[in-house]
Amino acid sequence: MKIIFCNSFLDPKQVDPDFEAEWSAAQEAGFECLLISFEDLQEGNLLKALKRIMPASNEAIALYRGWMLKPFEYQDLYEGLLDKNIRLLNSPQQYKHCHYLPESYKHIQDHSPESYWTSDLDMESIRETVKPFGSKSIILKDFVKSEKHHWLEACFIPDASDFEKLQEVVSNFLELRGHSLNEGLVFREFIDLEALAKHSKSGMPLSREYRIFFLKNEAIQSYNYWEEGDYEDRLVNLDFAQELAQSIESNFFSMDIAKSQAGQWIIMELGDGQVSGLPDDADPAAFYKTLIKKLDN
Ligand SMILES: Nc1ncnc2c1ncn2[C@@H]1O[C@H](COP(=O)(O)OP(=O)(O)O)[C@@H](O)[C@H]1O
Ligand SMILES: [Mg+2]
Repeated sequence: MKIIFCNSFLDPKQVDPDFEAEWSAAQEAGFECLLISFEDLQEGNLLKALKRIMPASNEAIALYRGWMLKPFEYQDLYEGLLDKNIRLLNSPQQYKHCHYLPESYKHIQDHSPESYWTSDLDMESIRETVKPFGSKSIILKDFVKSEKHHWLEACFIPDASDFEKLQEVVSNFLELRGHSLNEGLVFREFIDLEALAKHSKSGMPLSREYRIFFLKNEAIQSYNYWEEGDYEDRLVNLDFAQELAQSIESNFFSMDIAKSQAGQWIIMELGDGQVSGLPDDADPAAFYKTLIKKLDN
């Protein structure tokens, strides 16, 4: 079983330093670890990006573990690897399904904050998009990421009907995201979550959130999402997440869940498992051991 990591920009024969611990843990667990160049992939130079990958003699299944890719970049990677007889565990459609919130929203909406989105960045269109919220508090993100570490300036909007504030937060958000903006804007009802702490740097309210990884729709690992704060009980009752996961169209994905003050579990977001970070709380050795065991079955 193969895992594809990104190489170091400065030392292309080495793994990206941010993934060193995962690389070692994956090797230790018995994965064959391979390197691609993230920068070449982003520049559209697929041949160069994959030059360190030897074609497999029989079709092999592989996982990618690395930086987030735009869906078209993932598609390039997927096709480039297929030319080498290597098939990534998630198809490009499956990747996009969990990477873009609007793609999987229909499966999670009964357990997730009410959300509306637009790809039209015109303020009038944005005003229309948030109308259903009335004067509720909302948060803003793009199809993939928020600017949660700029909580008050670029994420949280106290009153969706306050057009001036909306405009200000959107404008800060767009400036911060710059070229990294994913597709469009998503607005979500703000839910009061069970409090854990306030982030020591950004002041963002931290709540009891967990990240669960699913392989073939089965929960394989769950982690405390934040490093800070006292989680008390680590164990989450996974039944609701497990049940919902059956409808998700992906072989490997993450699900972030949180508990509302009203006592309900809600789904914060899904992510493709190949580009979801391991929380600081996670033990990479255990993660990769579990992964290879389940993949071998
Ligand atoms: N609708 C919401 N209600 C309350 N808190 C939220 C809401 N959406 C996001 N948050 C908080 O902001 C954080 C970041 O949101 P998230 O959607 O996970 O964006 P990112 O992809 O940037 O991690 C969450 O982990 C949660 O703490
Ligand atoms: Mg998140």
